[in-house]
Amino acid sequence: MPQNITVTANKSKLKHTVDDRLLLVHYLRNVLGLTGTKVGCDTSQCGACTVLLDGVAVKSCTVLAAQADGASITTIEGLSQNDELHRVQVTVPELGMFQAAAPPAVVITSNRKREVHDALKRRCLCFWIDYPDFQKELQIITAKLPDAPRCLTEQVTAFVQELRQAELFKVPGVAETLDWVAALVALNQKELDAKVVEETLGALLKYREDLQTVRGEVVQGLLNRAGARGVRRGGEGRPQ
Ligand code: FES
Repeated sequence: MPQNITVTANKSKLKHTVDDRLLLVHYLRNVLGLTGTKVGCDTSQCGACTVLLDGVAVKSCTVLAAQADGASITTIEGLSQNDELHRVQVTVPELGMFQAAAPPAVVITSNRKREVHDALKRRCLCFWIDYPDFQKELQIITAKLPDAPRCLTEQVTAFVQELRQAELFKVPGVAETLDWVAALVALNQKELDAKVVEETLGALLKYREDLQTVRGEVVQGLLNRAGARGVRRGGEGRPQ
């Protein structure tokens, strides 16, 4: 639905009619032509789209243009003063060539969605890290969300471990497990049941096809298998 917005972008007051689903990053780039704001990922992790919204740094790929109505936005283009480039606007060609004193070691991570080029792979020592097992994932969740109820974190971890065996378009990673636990805690949920799983699964699965797959009996089956894991663990001693 079209929505009228007024923003102050890099000190210029502007009015536009935008679709209420238009992301701020696309508004800045495609409507205002402020292409210094980049789209670097589709997972809201890289920060290439960061702008200042009323002085606060936000990832503009996570904000709707409509939400910026009435706000002041500063993009990288707006940082220069008196025709002087701000230090973050200076590009390498303007500074000249750099030579590292020693060849740098660079750690590159990839989730396989963005394939690393063969020429780059040849120069790398590659190391494959699988999803964490139950104990490791539970440790991560407990360390990151220490206030989450233990029973809930165990159930969520077991459920996610089972879910990763399913044929999904995008298997959830640890970040999604953490998001899901945080959402459940915010909802004051103490343990999992089929109803709450179906109502909150959007924190874990990001594709409509996957959300349609994991419904009804599938959810109950996953809960049953996750519960059986708990029983097996009970026999082997509870996780520390
Ligand atoms: S494009 Fe990567 S965080 Fe926004």
